[in-house]
Amino acid sequence: MASVPSLAATLHQCLAEALSASVPQETPADWLDPMLRRSDRADFQANGMLALSKRLKTNPRELAGTVVESIPANEEIASVEVSGPGFLNIVVSDAAVLRNLAARSDDERLGVPYAESPGVTVIDYSQPNVAKEMHVGHLRSTVIGDAVTKILEHRGETVIRRHHIGDWGTQFGMLIQYLIEHPHELDHASDAADGRDEGEAAMARLNRLYKDSRSLFDSDEEFKTRARDRVVALQAGDEETLALWHKIVDESKTYFQAVYEDLDVEILDKDIVGESAYNDDLQQVVKDLESSGVAVRSEGALCVFFDDVKGPDGTPTPLIVQKSNGGFGYAATDLAAIRDRVGELQADTILYVVDARQALHFRMVFETARRAGWLPEGAARQLAFGTVLGKDGKPFKTREGESVRLVDLLDEAKQRAAVVVREKAQDLTEEEIQERAAQVGIGAVKYADLSNSMTRDYVFDLDRMVSLQGDTSVYLQYAYARVRSIFRRAGELRPQVHPMLTLEPAERALALHLDEFGDTLTAVAENYEPHKLAAYLYELATLFGPFYENCPVLKADSQQTAENRLFLCDLTARTLREGMTLLGIRTPERL
Ligand code: ARG
Repeated sequence: MASVPSLAATLHQCLAEALSASVPQETPADWLDPMLRRSDRADFQANGMLALSKRLKTNPRELAGTVVESIPANEEIASVEVSGPGFLNIVVSDAAVLRNLAARSDDERLGVPYAESPGVTVIDYSQPNVAKEMHVGHLRSTVIGDAVTKILEHRGETVIRRHHIGDWGTQFGMLIQYLIEHPHELDHASDAADGRDEGEAAMARLNRLYKDSRSLFDSDEEFKTRARDRVVALQAGDEETLALWHKIVDESKTYFQAVYEDLDVEILDKDIVGESAYNDDLQQVVKDLESSGVAVRSEGALCVFFDDVKGPDGTPTPLIVQKSNGGFGYAATDLAAIRDRVGELQADTILYVVDARQALHFRMVFETARRAGWLPEGAARQLAFGTVLGKDGKPFKTREGESVRLVDLLDEAKQRAAVVVREKAQDLTEEEIQERAAQVGIGAVKYADLSNSMTRDYVFDLDRMVSLQGDTSVYLQYAYARVRSIFRRAGELRPQVHPMLTLEPAERALALHLDEFGDTLTAVAENYEPHKLAAYLYELATLFGPFYENCPVLKADSQQTAENRLFLCDLTARTLREGMTLLGIRTPERL
């Protein structure tokens, strides 16, 4: 996914082009990179002349000098100096900075380029399991998947969501059989409320069903037999059995949707395509794998072997596609899903936002599909995420050692956020406080997750997450609200660029960073790295601080300066808002 140059190339791009055009004629054609980056000494520094001088066997300082002399006349560069062994320190002109930002501001996309050749990406994320509670692992998959989806779509990619929920398996025999024998088990209370309460009630019913059926299953051999027969009936498509299965799945979806609403993510029913959806394809998967020799029978099971996958004792660990009793597992379903995604959905790329602990599973599944000719090399990729840890540094569990219910965490986050909001806002009604608390609390949880690089484990620490200090969403939301508050006080004054003005250092720093939004998003999308967008936004909010302190906006010396600063405020606010929206985080106008 390379980029289409946006309407306004970034200053970075302009400079890189100017430098590339100024290297000596004998520069080899494959030399492209002036290695330009932002620098503290000047606006930019280019280090590429060192490598080039090695290839041309010339003196790097001399080469740098020649390049400087050959730079074509242009309006962007205010000064360029050779420093050290042959670096170029470049200062851009204030007018160029402002003109560039004006073009960004005129564009509703803020100059974010579309991908050059957008394709179809199928993204498999937020895949909770039916009849089970959602936990922090599902939080990660949902939040990361939602952000990656938004970022890719923003770049013009066609994104097809697939929520591969765990809605199939032997445990359904037990649940359904119990329901048949206790027909009122899932009945709804007559006065069930909406939304969140309805979701919680559904989960409570499912939990009870699960517990009751489990204890009967464990204590009653005859029930166990009936439950096993029920699995067979389910797989054979028996109508009554299927109807009850549907009832359980629907009950779960009611619960999932309530959690999604809390989490402020939109998941559509049509995109929930669980394991059961591939049931009819499993026989064919097995047949094809066996006849092509990709899979072989081993002790009755259908297995795929890999040279480099071995157990601790050195014996190979196969991917089991079909168990010796004829049953299909997780792997068979994933293989069928790949065929559907590549064959029917025409995916160019398939992403799996799944816990890193499933990495071996996906490695084996992808390799199997590749050998079978169902998956082009490199088309599938697991966006593996790390584990959420408790403050003790161990996987996050309740004191009883159970996984923590996601809804409880979200509740707590909102409560903590309410404290922060209440402290800050004196004139908000209780309703407004609760609304903001949800935006702040949920935003905090999402941001803490997204601002870490995906593969890393992180500690779930609500105190830190809702803090106004440091790299948190609250800090960003607060920065946004602060910028917006300037506009409420601006009266008749409107943002307007005045390219003839001289910029203060704090204005330049803010402006140069604003100019990099498009480049940042391009890199974030190409490498699936939402944490780099978070880092960009954090830096933006951080740069706004000194600007706000040193450069009075409404009380500026001249109207032009005031308008120009208001322009920088406006672009800062819009960039923050756009970036946060892509991360799935709200930016309230006031905090
Ligand atoms: N339901 C699984 C879990 O909760 C995750 C499914 C991941 N997706 C997949 N295609 N296998 O762990």
